[in-house]
Amino acid sequence: MDLLKAACICFIYFSFFQYSSCNAASYNVVSFGARRGGRTDSSQAFERAWRAACASSSSSMVYIPRGVFMTKPVVFSGPCRSRILFQIDGTLVAPPNYYDMGKSGFWILFTKVSRLTVHGGTIDAKGSKFWACRRSGGNCPPGVRSISFLWSSNVIVRGLKSLYSELIHIAISKCNNILFEHLSIIAPSRSPNTDGMIIQSSTGITVKNSLFRTGDDCIAVGPGSKNIWMEKIACGPGHGISIGSLGNSLNEEGVQNVTLTNSIFTKTQNGVRIKSWARDSKSYATNVEFRNIVMKSVDNPIIIDQTYCPGDRCPRETSGVEVSNVRYSNIKGTSTTVEAVKFECSLSNPCRGIQMRNIRLLTPNRVTTSTCENVHGWASGQVVPRSCL
Ligand SMILES: *[C@@H]1O[C@H](CO)[C@@H](O)[C@H](O)[C@H]1NC(C)=O
Repeated sequence: MDLLKAACICFIYFSFFQYSSCNAASYNVVSFGARRGGRTDSSQAFERAWRAACASSSSSMVYIPRGVFMTKPVVFSGPCRSRILFQIDGTLVAPPNYYDMGKSGFWILFTKVSRLTVHGGTIDAKGSKFWACRRSGGNCPPGVRSISFLWSSNVIVRGLKSLYSELIHIAISKCNNILFEHLSIIAPSRSPNTDGMIIQSSTGITVKNSLFRTGDDCIAVGPGSKNIWMEKIACGPGHGISIGSLGNSLNEEGVQNVTLTNSIFTKTQNGVRIKSWARDSKSYATNVEFRNIVMKSVDNPIIIDQTYCPGDRCPRETSGVEVSNVRYSNIKGTSTTVEAVKFECSLSNPCRGIQMRNIRLLTPNRVTTSTCENVHGWASGQVVPRSCL
């Protein structure tokens, strides 16, 4: 087999048969001036390689070879003429001084892109100095999300590893149809606000076979999220998987059709949580399903909290967010607190259609309990702690 043919087969293999053309042009960032070694800023070289690929009339590949490449904030914007495979064999690292991450809030940003596959790669935002600054209450820059997708559609992100983000590891907003698979998201359990993934104003987001170990939510499904599928997620340490916070503003969009299945939580603060501000709002969460879940030493395995109001900025208000049709089934394991199930719904908008089936949450040597406030629903099958519905 000649080299070209091998490269072509390789390309097809990596792109999982989505590319019909074997004439795919490859744009190696090194040819555009990127420098290995982690000391020279390669952001402009990355952007030049991207622009070349983006202008290509046939499928193309942006290639980041093995090695460590330092990059300041970088923007990959579309629309592009054809499919792009963004193949990362190397590691992208942040500049040593966190002030060089700028004020845009983004480190690696894909915007207005469609038909993109991001494959492989490690991105290391080296957030520890930034966390220390925040902890000391100093005058810190705003911080950046590690990798973001804005206004993008038909994207696959497979095999990406994100380390030590300053804030959110992966942020998705105004997107449609993105598949994330085989992610490893890593930050220490005590790193502040290092959410694994935040989804907002997006439809058709799937996250599968992925590992989240971080200091805040593993995944947060925010306002305007629809048709969200999460499967085979390992979460922990972290704050669990949340829908919310919802209802921070009056005219906020709701959340609908969210499924989490075949997942495991290890030593997390929460398991499956729905959270809303205690404020007036037209937001809602409906058609949510949590099933086939294992909890290992989780503080609050099942929780709906509609009383969220840090700083006590909503005195005497209740949440306007309507929570309805939430199904919990086949959820087993251990809770570190006695109160393994907690439904604290809004007085003005009680939760409706909450269903529990085959739940078994235990705590060593004590009987677990459940609390219900302003909630309507029913339980079936074996339910431990005893249902308060
Ligand atoms: C719910 O979302 C899933 C994907 O996450 C989708 O396959 C399904 O069609 C959606 N259901 C409805 C009723 O929209």
